[in-house]
Amino acid sequence: MSSQSAPWRTVWISGASSGLGEHVARLLAQQGCHVAISARSEDKLNAIAAGNNNISVWPLDVTDAAACKETAHAIEAAHGTIDLALFSAGAWFQSSVEELRVENYQKTFDVNVMGVVHCVDGVLPQMLARGGGHIAWVSSVAGYGGLPLSGSYSASKSALICLAETMKPELDAKGVTLSVVNPGFVKTDMTASNKFPMPFLMEVEDAAHKMVEGLKRKKFEVAFPWQLVTILKVLNLLPYWLYFAITKRMV
Ligand SMILES: NC(=O)c1ccc[n+]([C@@H]2O[C@H](COP(=O)([O-])OP(=O)(O)OC[C@H]3O[C@@H](n4cnc5c(N)ncnc54)[C@H](OP(=O)(O)O)[C@@H]3O)[C@@H](O)[C@H]2O)c1
Repeated sequence: MSSQSAPWRTVWISGASSGLGEHVARLLAQQGCHVAISARSEDKLNAIAAGNNNISVWPLDVTDAAACKETAHAIEAAHGTIDLALFSAGAWFQSSVEELRVENYQKTFDVNVMGVVHCVDGVLPQMLARGGGHIAWVSSVAGYGGLPLSGSYSASKSALICLAETMKPELDAKGVTLSVVNPGFVKTDMTASNKFPMPFLMEVEDAAHKMVEGLKRKKFEVAFPWQLVTILKVLNLLPYWLYFAITKRMV
């Protein structure tokens, strides 16, 4: 498969009004896919789709389970079977123990975890029925293990990695491909206001390119940049006394 052509005819992307979702949508539309883009900001979606016949706009709040199902079905009615569903919608709040805001935890889990589950529910029955299709969602290297000051986010992203590990064997047996994308730090709206150092920060175009290439190869885990991925994977192999000796420096 040439890196300039994509194996999917119809793609659905949530969280596509900005950042990673937007850039993957643009890339796949260039590569000939029809890309159905969803997020809450209809104006941003319309601006991305303007003049591009390969992109259609499907406004959606992923916390609304019924709307996710209806949107998936409406996209399939308009553009045919969804071959790749990429769920990139996400919310991030810094969360220290001193400022534990219940509403931020609620929102993070509603969007990051239940938002993915709602969207999976929209596409999975059709994929299981035909024994094919590719589902991917965006977790984070922050989900490899608990990192200070990111309680709600890290925990929600761990849940997404665990969910993917849980579903993969069953989906393999049914012919449905599953991928989990674990980016490090990427320059998007989400990270724009971060005050802390972001090692190996990537440009969003490079990250989107890596996502598309990893998904084309049907990798289970698509993770980048390799330097941060390696550091955090090794960190999570350490005994807790050493793990906390290192992570307490992040407080
Ligand atoms: N940037 C990073 O360093 C980084 C690193 C690791 C993982 N990630 C993950 O990558 C994904 C994309 O983030 P990004 O960096 O591209 O940030 P972003 O530019 O802020 O994009 C987030 C997207 O999620 C959408 N969204 C938020 N709440 C939603 C809701 N309730 N329903 C539907 N869409 C919703 C936003 O659109 P609307 O506001 O228009 O709804 C936007 O399109 C997220 O899952 C994030 O956690 C990012």
